[in-house]
Amino acid sequence: MVSIRSLLLVFIVLFGVVVCQSRFRQIRYKNCKSKLDILSVEATECGESGTRCPFTRGSEPRIRIAFKPKQRINKLETAVRAKLGSVFVPFHLENNDACTGGNITCPLEVGKTYYYSQSVKILNEYPNVDVQVNWLLQNPEDQSNDGGRREACIIFLAKVV
Ligand SMILES: *[C@@H]1O[C@H](CO)[C@@H](O)[C@H](O)[C@H]1NC(C)=O
Repeated sequence: MVSIRSLLLVFIVLFGVVVCQSRFRQIRYKNCKSKLDILSVEATECGESGTRCPFTRGSEPRIRIAFKPKQRINKLETAVRAKLGSVFVPFHLENNDACTGGNITCPLEVGKTYYYSQSVKILNEYPNVDVQVNWLLQNPEDQSNDGGRREACIIFLAKVV
């Protein structure tokens, strides 16, 4: 018979594995003229060393951006592009509505801290390359022409492994 103690041990080990894999770590990023205040950018599966996040094919890394809006935001959409050499390739997201799939509830209020979070599938078809990831949160209602719709703009380095 399986003892309770060994069951417990199995449970603890499994739990540890799950928790470790989904751990967020701060990543290095560049803020490309975000309108809102970016407080931190974290990702899972980014490891501890170096500046490039190794994104394993078949995995689904998650990003978390803590921010404070400077204006009230009713709608927010995610757009992710990867730069390979000089070519931009869009990343497909199942849900690009940040207000429903991004762990935030709209409308977003001025000065409140939000933790936007979204995962992205690293498909098995992706080539083994270094990429520059451009993560955007766009406000479709913002008609201003000073770089307007771009509420958040973040660039970080990754590689598909
Ligand atoms: C979702 O948002 C809450 C705060 O509203 C935050 O505490 C939590 O860490 C966020 N979840 C993820 C997966 O980022």
